[in-house]
Amino acid sequence: MGIAHEKIEKNVGLLAVLIAVAVSLGGLAEIVPLMLQAEAIEPAPGVEPYPALELAGRDVYVREGCYGCHSQMVRTLRFETERYGHYSLAGESVYDRPFQWGSKRTGPDLARVGGRYSDDWHRVHLTDPRAVVPESNMPAFPWLARTGVDGGSVAMRMKALQRLGDPYSDAQIAAAAAEVAGKTELDAVVAYLQGLGRNAPKGN
Ligand code: HEC
Repeated sequence: MGIAHEKIEKNVGLLAVLIAVAVSLGGLAEIVPLMLQAEAIEPAPGVEPYPALELAGRDVYVREGCYGCHSQMVRTLRFETERYGHYSLAGESVYDRPFQWGSKRTGPDLARVGGRYSDDWHRVHLTDPRAVVPESNMPAFPWLARTGVDGGSVAMRMKALQRLGDPYSDAQIAAAAAEVAGKTELDAVVAYLQGLGRNAPKGN
């Protein structure tokens, strides 16, 4: 062992090759099972495509770049599960295109934020974060309350997702415009946030 070790450490070429082998094996061991495991590519129990209003809210979330400061992925670490709840499962985000996992956390992770606050809290917070969290450096998004959701465009987005394989029924798509009629983008984002983590496994 000692001699082999010394040989490898003193031979840069051999060391580089062996490092490449070790890193590749580690990478393959992480990635290949995920591609084969059904639970990583199938929806977790209870996970359904977003209802019309939540889908509209999700698109506003992406447009406004909320992901620049918020991840939606609770890691499998004790201090994360104690703070946020059960760690995230791949099957929770099969209908997220694109997924919102991320690692940039200027603000807290939002994967389990649904139900943590009232709708009213979110409305005030999104319109003027410092009204409820004085030390917050989150930007205000006052225009969301002034902008209506376009039902026709939501229905078209659902149709596009259906074409990609999301199991929306034609009836759901036909009802979309009526569902979001009269709603603002703020209503949509709040509905989306309140749905986050809805199908998280219970416990930590
Ligand atoms: C520049 C960074 C930044 C951006 C962009 C941002 N946030 Fe935040 N957010 C924060 C910070 C920091 C906090 C923690 C302080 C607070 O509660 O305001 C926070 C807190 C939150 C919370 C409360 C989370 C909790 O568990 O207490 C929610 C919900 C939230 N943000 C939603 C959003 C949404 C939706 C958007 C996009 C429309 C957004 N944020 C954009 C920085 C940001």
